[in-house]
Amino acid sequence: MRNLNQDTITQAVLARLATTTDPRLKEIMTSLVQHLHAFAREVKLTEAEWLQGIEFLTATGQMCDNKRQEFILLSDTLGLSMLTVAMNNDKPLGCTEPTVFGPFFLEEAPRFKLGDDVANGAKGEPCMVRGTVKSLDGTPVPNALINVWQADADGNYDVQYTHLAHPQARGILNADAEGKFHFRTILAEAYPIPSDGPVGKMLAATKNHPWRPAHLHFMIEAPGYERLITHVFRDHDQYLDSDVVFGVRSSLIADWVKLPDGTYSLEFDFVLNPLK
Ligand code: BEZ
Ligand code: FE
Repeated sequence: MRNLNQDTITQAVLARLATTTDPRLKEIMTSLVQHLHAFAREVKLTEAEWLQGIEFLTATGQMCDNKRQEFILLSDTLGLSMLTVAMNNDKPLGCTEPTVFGPFFLEEAPRFKLGDDVANGAKGEPCMVRGTVKSLDGTPVPNALINVWQADADGNYDVQYTHLAHPQARGILNADAEGKFHFRTILAEAYPIPSDGPVGKMLAATKNHPWRPAHLHFMIEAPGYERLITHVFRDHDQYLDSDVVFGVRSSLIADWVKLPDGTYSLEFDFVLNPLK
């Protein structure tokens, strides 16, 4: 293969992929090359712009460590994460809708009993969360494993602090035999995603804000059911229609009610999809 030009280079690259034995890898690589080349042709990519793109991706990688995943932020802010969630979670009507996982989940969260305060010292207004985990037919799902995590009143997750002695505003608990759960925590508040890296620069350059509407993250697991990864969003938040990661679904919006004693209360039921 010699003397390739802008009209013949794409076919030459595709021909080189013909030896790929894994059919799925072949499908993905072929499509990637076709779309990448079509993109470069469509925008008439200059060499300076190509280099800027390489530098942007390099900086994105250099920003990553075990606490910061700038590539996931990039995927989130380009809508790729939410697209992938939407394409892979076609649940029956009536099931709680999933949304993005986000980069702040911790495998090793502390265990709590029903009624405990998962805030564990995190700054924020006190809040009680209650609900039931149900199956699609409305019957309670007993003893589901509930993972919950959220940002504090300053808009930070515990993993974003370097000095914390123990995890805060996250935990694992089990619903009871009737599917019911309740725990104390802090009020969910809107917060900006980390914007001191290349993704923040991209948002600024495209005149977009970095904010997520107030939400509580949940991962709910029970034998015989699909795992549910979702959020509950706080009604009336000013960012519900401009979430920087495109994660809001109307069915996930709930009212955090302010009680006479100044604390907040959230009630939300989750409906899991039974495995076939
Ligand atoms: C989050 O909600 O924790 C989150 C999701 C996507 C990007 C950044 C943060
Ligand atoms: Fe979050």
